[in-house]
Amino acid sequence: MSHPVKVGFIGTGGIANSHLRQLTTMENASITALCDIVEERANAAVEQYGGTAYTDYRKMLDEAELDAVYFCLPPFAHSDAEIIAAERGLHLFVQKPVVLELETGIKIAEAIQKAGVISCVGYQSRYSNVATAARNFLSDKTIGMVACHRWGGIAGGPDHWWRVMEKSGGMLHEQATHQLDMLRYTAGDIVEVYKIDAMKINVNQENHTIPDAEVVTLQFESGAVGYITTSSALIHGGGSSRTDFIIEGHFILQLSRGEVQIIPEGAATIEVPDTPALSIDEAFIQAIQTGNQSIIRSSYSDGLKSAAVTIAANQSSLEHRPIRVPVC
Ligand SMILES: NC(=O)c1ccc[n+]([C@@H]2O[C@H](COP(=O)([O-])OP(=O)(O)OC[C@H]3O[C@@H](n4cnc5c(N)ncnc54)[C@H](O)[C@@H]3O)[C@@H](O)[C@H]2O)c1
Repeated sequence: MSHPVKVGFIGTGGIANSHLRQLTTMENASITALCDIVEERANAAVEQYGGTAYTDYRKMLDEAELDAVYFCLPPFAHSDAEIIAAERGLHLFVQKPVVLELETGIKIAEAIQKAGVISCVGYQSRYSNVATAARNFLSDKTIGMVACHRWGGIAGGPDHWWRVMEKSGGMLHEQATHQLDMLRYTAGDIVEVYKIDAMKINVNQENHTIPDAEVVTLQFESGAVGYITTSSALIHGGGSSRTDFIIEGHFILQLSRGEVQIIPEGAATIEVPDTPALSIDEAFIQAIQTGNQSIIRSSYSDGLKSAAVTIAANQSSLEHRPIRVPVC
């Protein structure tokens, strides 16, 4: 493709604005059409970034001349838009988690595969030099155990979809999906999960139906075991996130705050590249221009696998039993 990639957006809320800011700095992208069901939000985005405003994605997909669409929708709002876009030969950037229930995701993945379009899921951590280094380092090592947590507060105010289980899927599915996806990227697929959760601390928070604590055991395909815990109880700050891999050779590879460390110091050496890494938006636009899906580190079907793990975990806590992660 020789012209700048003509980009549309469905959903122009929080994360859409981050992508739009980045895209406006890129000469090979052109912001063409922006859709949000909240008209003021679509209009405000057009005023800031250009393009034509829409409130109905079907109309936008019918009328606008596009090469690619960003789907910056809350988990519960994914339906047929991705399928319509793929069927029209448009390339897709879909924010994580790609869906709330698996059936919709499987249909979307099939439509993308059938259309042969480029797809990218918003797991931007995969593009960092630290992620590259950790993945390369671990690729020929035996991992015994993985311990991971993401603890934080509550996103948004009382009327925000994030705190409603039927809308977001909870902290593990919606936010800690980044950490879970990084486990898959560095330690391989997860085949079985068992989750218990609780709601003991955020009890007086209005309209809050997600668990405020989740503990999930993970069985990796490799035979390694692991766990991930989440908390949304730290509403006054103090949140943290960390992953420890216990590895052959009797040491730890630790990922924390975008840095990687070997513990004890000197037990091994890990090289972190210092060349500037492509941002996820640069990778997506370049992949479209060159037709090269391989520079994208999380395709839709791969992103769906991360969603499948947390969907299985939620099922597990409802049914009080371990659940095999569906192959999708
Ligand atoms: N990769 C990241 O680090 C990152 C960061 C933040 C959010 N996200 C993800 O991005 C997604 C959106 O999050 P957000 O914080 O931008 O949410 P948001 O609520 O700020 O924005 C979502 C927008 O979608 C619009 N919308 C809903 N249904 C629509 C429809 N059918 N057609 C058009 N517009 C519709 C809403 O009106 C809203 O403006 C979530 O899945 C979230 O997990 C990813």
